[in-house]
Amino acid sequence: MTRYLVLLGPPGVGKGTQAKIISERTGLAHISSGDLFRENLKNQTELGKLAQTYMSRGELVPDDVTIGMIRERLSRPDCKAGAILDGFPRTPTQADALEAMLDEFNGHVDAAPFITGDEDVLVERLGDRWTCRANGHIYNQKSNPPREPGICDFDGSELYQREDDKPETVKRRIHVYLEQTSPLIDYYRRRGKLIEIDGMQTIEQVTQALVSALDIQSSL
Ligand code: AP5
Ligand code: MG
Repeated sequence: MTRYLVLLGPPGVGKGTQAKIISERTGLAHISSGDLFRENLKNQTELGKLAQTYMSRGELVPDDVTIGMIRERLSRPDCKAGAILDGFPRTPTQADALEAMLDEFNGHVDAAPFITGDEDVLVERLGDRWTCRANGHIYNQKSNPPREPGICDFDGSELYQREDDKPETVKRRIHVYLEQTSPLIDYYRRRGKLIEIDGMQTIEQVTQALVSALDIQSSL
């Protein structure tokens, strides 16, 4: 069965952390628009250089560029069974474009889990985040530290702090989220897809809440 999930929630609430866990359990592809932009930047593509000018300011990359990138990613073979979308859509225009795209692939958004969190906790979490250079594995020096400081448990690559995790940029990202992305909460609620999940619990508790709300079999 094809299944497309849209993870909603403010910066730092745990979308990437949970998407990686749910992707492993279900075999659904994990598509993070932020990771795709960062990969493009690492490879110094034109798209990466363009995206960086927006990301470093905490602003959204323009819709047309973002939609084109996601369309290409969703058409790859590993998305045949569906995907977990993390960070896309982020505007109503992107959400409409996603509906049209999935129509082409004979699919639709099955559910939109909305992970909620308090602003002060988000700023603190992002200040403590360390990200793996090779594959974007996510750590936190307080809540989810690596076994060895500065080194990824999974692939041994270097951990770094994202440039946009500085407190001023995080505040801007939260503002942009509230202005441009939060209308998607109603967008998916009106379509009967929204599932609210309390993101202020431990990582394991949030996973458990997602697993039961999405009816994911633990054997998967
Ligand atoms: P993106 O990379 O998507 O960043 P974001 O949405 O701001 O979200 P984050 O990745 O910061 O947070 P997260 O929710 O994934 O939290 P995480 O799991 O890491 O986007 C970056 C930029 O790219 C944007 O600003 C924009 O410029 C551009 N962009 C991306 N998509 C776009 C789009 N569609 N359109 C236009 N522009 C776009 O967790 C955070 C920390 O908390 C970690 O340290 C983690 O270990 C810890 N943690 C997680 N869960 C818990 C928990 N339950 N308890 C304690 N700690 C926890
Ligand atoms: Mg993320």
